[in-house]
Amino acid sequence: MTGKIENFSESERLYQRALEVIPTASQTFSKSAMNYVRGASPLFADRGEGGRLWDVDDNLYIDFVLGLLPIVLGYSDPDVDKAITLQLERGITLSLATELEIELAERLVKLIPCAEMVRFGKNGTDGTSAAVRIARAATGRDIIVVCGYHGWQDWYIGSTTRHLGVPEAVRDLTKTFPYNDAAALEYLLNENKDKVAAIVLEPMALTQPEPGFLEAVRDLATRHEVVLVFDEIITGFRIGMGGAQSEFGVTPDIGVFGKAMANGMPISAITGRRDLMRYFEDIFISGTFGGEALSLAASLATLNKMEEQNVPQKLKAIGSGLCNQITEKLSQAGLGETYSRVGGDWWPGFVPNPDSDKDPILLTSLLRQELIANGVLMGTTLNLCLAHTEPGLIDETVSAFGKALASVAEALDAPDPWLLLRGEPIRPVFSVRS
Ligand SMILES: Cc1ncc(COP(=O)(O)O)c(C=O)c1O
Repeated sequence: MTGKIENFSESERLYQRALEVIPTASQTFSKSAMNYVRGASPLFADRGEGGRLWDVDDNLYIDFVLGLLPIVLGYSDPDVDKAITLQLERGITLSLATELEIELAERLVKLIPCAEMVRFGKNGTDGTSAAVRIARAATGRDIIVVCGYHGWQDWYIGSTTRHLGVPEAVRDLTKTFPYNDAAALEYLLNENKDKVAAIVLEPMALTQPEPGFLEAVRDLATRHEVVLVFDEIITGFRIGMGGAQSEFGVTPDIGVFGKAMANGMPISAITGRRDLMRYFEDIFISGTFGGEALSLAASLATLNKMEEQNVPQKLKAIGSGLCNQITEKLSQAGLGETYSRVGGDWWPGFVPNPDSDKDPILLTSLLRQELIANGVLMGTTLNLCLAHTEPGLIDETVSAFGKALASVAEALDAPDPWLLLRGEPIRPVFSVRS
């Protein structure tokens, strides 16, 4: 890449047009103008290929957002696209169930320790919400205890600061506990004795589970007769083909998968113990697009390729190598104490160091702005895909980080670093992953 990326005029034009007809000008907070330095960032994508993305101003980026994690092989993966195209010739949404549903369910039962039966949804929120309904049906209890992010529906979002529109009666039914704090979970379960239906937990996000934590959660769930749900929507197939439950050897009662399972096609899976899954026969979870066939075909092709090429292992190798080199660049720029590396090699990130005396919004905004200027699109995390193994791509990324971090360091040395932002700072929706 030569020269800095600085023209976002078409993005800005589309943004103004979108604001007239689309609230927030986006369908997803994390893809919206709130998440980038507006004026110095692309807001609209044109196309993706492999691990790269072009914006509507024809600027080219190495993409570490990857559609917010569904893209696990790369954009326009030929094998997945072929499976979609073949199915397209046979129909998208058919009038009866198809064998594809059985094939994919059988596949997931083989891969995932907790999976004895499977149902499909269209997104992660469908999945976690179905798990919650099953747990309430099975236990006859109402309270849900959560840790992490689980989607936009009332039962979860009511527990966050962005709960406008969620009735207080519903909000009162969801309690939160911090990751790696089994004592806090135990306290909640005792305080709400015989009232908790489910514990819904991301088994790992940006923090490594402390030894014994997941086992303690499992044990507490069993002792209190609470349904343990692992939200594997991010861990699913990235951390390993059997999810975090396989990686850490702790089996929940229900596991929910989404995002990466079809390399970008919209599908999720609720997997779990047979006796719990049978509640699907009595509760009501049913939708027009359930069984939509392009996503099922894409998912089978994605899982095949991931297994054949041992993609989870490759993602870890890319993540580890890349992060070591970025850490070196941080030191060289004198920013080793300003940003910290978080997450596992399969899903690493760089966040403002909580001990830094600099405003985290400033630090995040500057880093995001300067990475974009140097051709790297990234949120908090480095979302990885198989196509990042393209020769030279990681070297290019490291070089871009070097230049971006030098600019960030220079800005932070200025009398007023905020003036070095070439647009409006980012605006966090809320924070769920500490
Ligand atoms: C861990 C986790 N659970 C649930 C969801 C909700 O999934 P979706 O946005 O597909 O509804 C997300 C989405 O980011 C997630 O990261």
